[in-house]
Amino acid sequence: MPLNLDDIVRLIDQRGAQQYGLEAVSQREHALQCAHLAESAGEPDELVIACLLHDLGHLIAAEKAGTMDTDMRQDDLHQYTLLPFLRGVLPDAVLEPIRLHVDAKRYLCQAEGSYYATLSTASVHSLAQQGGAYTAVESRAFLRQPFAEDAVRLRRYDDLAKDPDRAVPPLDHYLPRLEQLMLQTA
Ligand SMILES: [Fe+2]
Repeated sequence: MPLNLDDIVRLIDQRGAQQYGLEAVSQREHALQCAHLAESAGEPDELVIACLLHDLGHLIAAEKAGTMDTDMRQDDLHQYTLLPFLRGVLPDAVLEPIRLHVDAKRYLCQAEGSYYATLSTASVHSLAQQGGAYTAVESRAFLRQPFAEDAVRLRRYDDLAKDPDRAVPPLDHYLPRLEQLMLQTA
C-alpha cells in the first residue's frame, strides 16, 4: 500500500528511536544526519529526500514483524522493502538512489582502494552479507544504471551519518520538500 506523508512521519516518530544497527545513533538521527549532509553539500531536493528515507525499509520491516527492533544482523534487503510503498508516490530520482545504495557500497569497495578502510565494523559485517565488493566488470555494469552516481553520493553521506554528537535540523525541516515531491509525482 502506498505511504502518504502522515505514514512516513508516523513511522519515523514511532520507530525512529531504534538504534541504527550497531552504530551509536538512532534510526531517526541517522536519517536526519544523512539528509543534512546532502543538503549542506547543495544536493537537489530529490537526493536530500532519498537520504532522509533511504533506510525507511528497516522501519517498515520492523513494523511488519511487530517488533520495536530493527534486526540488522541479517541482510533484510531493506533497499528493496521500501520501494513498493513509495512507487508512484515519489519520483525515480528519489527511489533509484535508495534502491542502489547498498550496491553503491559494493561498487566503492572495488573502485576506491581506500574506501573499505573507512567503513565501520557494522558496515564491514553487512558488506559480507550483501555479497562483498564488486568485481571490475560488476562495477562497470553498476555505473551504467540511471541514478548510480546519485546512489554513490547517497552512500557517502550514509557512511558519515553516524555521529552521536552532530546537531541537525528536525524532521519538520524536510516535510515541505517531501510533500512537494509527492504532489509532483501523484
Ligand atoms: Fe543508512
